[in-house]
Amino acid sequence: MQDLLNELKNLKAEFETGLDSIKESKELDELRLKFLGKKGKITAQMKNMAKLSAEDRPVFGAEANRLRQQIEAAIQQAAKDLESARRELQFKAEELDVTRPGRALKRGLAHPITQVIDEISEVFFSLGFALADGPEVEFIKNNFDLLRIAEGHPARDFRDTFYINDEAVLRTQTSPVQIRTMQSQEPPIKIICPGRCYRSDTPDATHSPVFHQIEGLVIDHGIAMSDLVGHLELFAKAIFGQDTKIRLRPHHFPFTEPSCEVDISCWACHGVDSESCSTCRGETWVEILGAGMVHPEVIENCGLDSKEYSGFAFGLGVERTAMGRYGIDDIRRFYENDLRFLRQFH
Ligand code: PHE
Repeated sequence: MQDLLNELKNLKAEFETGLDSIKESKELDELRLKFLGKKGKITAQMKNMAKLSAEDRPVFGAEANRLRQQIEAAIQQAAKDLESARRELQFKAEELDVTRPGRALKRGLAHPITQVIDEISEVFFSLGFALADGPEVEFIKNNFDLLRIAEGHPARDFRDTFYINDEAVLRTQTSPVQIRTMQSQEPPIKIICPGRCYRSDTPDATHSPVFHQIEGLVIDHGIAMSDLVGHLELFAKAIFGQDTKIRLRPHHFPFTEPSCEVDISCWACHGVDSESCSTCRGETWVEILGAGMVHPEVIENCGLDSKEYSGFAFGLGVERTAMGRYGIDDIRRFYENDLRFLRQFH
């Protein structure tokens, strides 16, 4: 009996040494099998009970059982310790420093044409204008007929205009949006419409078959030429600086009467040494838009009463304005998508 109890003590010591040297869960499994498995050392000890007297048997049995429970508990604890050590290592490996500065995103920027359109639009929005829209493939009726551009007018020539078919063209101006707006809205009307226009021009430094205009239209009771001048003056000062002046020159457009071309005082030379100024080339003035009082027949063409309503309209060349503003000498730069050019417009 005493021998057997000593064996249990030795077993305990052997287990503890074994446990101390364990580094991974596979080794722990092996240790568990070695002591608690079917052919394990504790199981073998249990079998020894048969050799004992009826008196000694329960004493030894209790002792052996306690050892087994101790071993089971120690193995469970060791498994837990191994698992948390493994996690600790994993967390270390996956560590993420959220305080590290981020990598800057490469942001694009709006095209210079878009920037100029946005800037001009903001000025007119602040004057109470709303945004209107129209299609780039437009009815001949809206692009020419209802604007009083008669058949045979040179602007309608197929050498100047991209025809889609007998009824439609690529709009040559944003003015057809005047027609669409007057047909669909009751006055008071106060809109701008920025958009693409097309003319069948051979590209050169100042011509491009696609370009942009901003159309403006105001229709209400008692609108006069002075309203046009006042609005354009406010616009010119907001965009080109408070000391900017505007000049109206008589002109002809079939859809406005009277019509004018509008110049603004040169923002580059301010009239000083204009002879050497590359922006106005000695003129001291730069032409930026066409305008006029909406022709009564155009108002009638849209189903409005021209005795009740009057209004003004203008059409501004976006590329021309942008070129003047940034000193760009060739309109084709805008469409070449050369990033070295575009990145300059921060
Ligand atoms: N549509 C004219 C053009 O393209 C400009 C314009 C617009 C003139 C509105 C008068 C009124 O040249």
